[in-house]
Amino acid sequence: MTQSSKVAFTTIPSPCFVLDQVRLEQNLAVFERVQQEAPIKVLLALKAFSLFHSFPLVQRTLHGASASSLWEVQLAREKFGKEIHVYSPAYRHEDMPSILTYASHLTFNSMSQWERFYPFIERSHCQVSLGLRINPQYSPVKTMLYNPCQPNTRLGILPEYIGDRLPKGVEGFLSHNLCESDSYALEKTLSHIEYFFGHFLSQIKWLNLGGGHLMTHQSYDIAHAIDVLCAFHNRYPHIELILEPGSAIVWETGFLLATVQDLIPTSDLTHAMLDVSFTAHMPDCLEMPYKPVIRGARELEEGDKVYRMGGSSCLAGDFIGDYAFCDDLSIGDRLIFEDMMHYTMVKSTMFNGVVHPSIGLLKKDGTFELWRQFSYEDYRARLG
Ligand SMILES: Cc1ncc(COP(=O)(O)O)c(C=O)c1O
Repeated sequence: MTQSSKVAFTTIPSPCFVLDQVRLEQNLAVFERVQQEAPIKVLLALKAFSLFHSFPLVQRTLHGASASSLWEVQLAREKFGKEIHVYSPAYRHEDMPSILTYASHLTFNSMSQWERFYPFIERSHCQVSLGLRINPQYSPVKTMLYNPCQPNTRLGILPEYIGDRLPKGVEGFLSHNLCESDSYALEKTLSHIEYFFGHFLSQIKWLNLGGGHLMTHQSYDIAHAIDVLCAFHNRYPHIELILEPGSAIVWETGFLLATVQDLIPTSDLTHAMLDVSFTAHMPDCLEMPYKPVIRGARELEEGDKVYRMGGSSCLAGDFIGDYAFCDDLSIGDRLIFEDMMHYTMVKSTMFNGVVHPSIGLLKKDGTFELWRQFSYEDYRARLG
């Protein structure tokens, strides 16, 4: 095996989610530019990435965080500060008083939730700015699991449910319809919002365009996005524009380090049994599904030895493949699953009691700082 494919970060425990500071700062620089050149505020969507040890880095650039539950709001208030925009598909009555103490902005997913909570909020005289999630009736997302505008969606309000005028107290709209999308999808979203909700736009103070803006992808046309946002601002100068990306903030900013524990040959391939699980630690690989990039591995060519990555749980489908490596894998080899910061740590479980990946930072100077290691007590504490 070559040096490039045989990774030897010996100071990093395996398994481990490793955030790369250099890459994170590069991504933040992109949002710095967008916020300088377009009239826009960018928030971090905690649902995608809530590794709070990194918040001191992120806070320097972003205006706040967006949260989708009481616990996310609490984390945002405790660890992020600044503006905290909250949206949940359905608020629980018992959570609302606490949410109101932490949130700066609060968005409702349906008119019935609005009607249920507005009288209470009005009586409480809190300073929260209130909004409604609208359905722009457009999404470029082909995978239904991630398409918020699919037919009969439960996410967002259609214009006909709002009535002729916005209810008293509504100050903003949230629209979230994108996923790993480009600037042309952003442009089309805005034109749909103008078409379907244009008669309300003179009445709102802010428009949150949600997440899914993959501005840190190399092919994203930042200049075009800036033009689109500036043009909208020129048409509606009274509306504050907000984005709340998650994936784009930490796109390609870190990896999941794993170690080969066993090699099991079958008639057609060899299973590389790992100390990580796809279902427990990289669930999107199975849900979407997609095949993650492994550093040093490549797509199969005729005659290659075939390796299938076997997860450490007993789930029959906990595997991903197939890959080829320049040199044969050995037990003890370390593998790097690339781009494992967004929707990984936040979605991971301790299913099967499999060892939970540690979390740490690869610092600018190349040294590693361990932030968290998990124990049997952590596993037990979740169950009772
Ligand atoms: C309302 C809302 N805002 C923001 C996001 C973040 O999206 P992304 O991580 O694709 O940028 C999501 C993702 O589901 C969302 O539902």
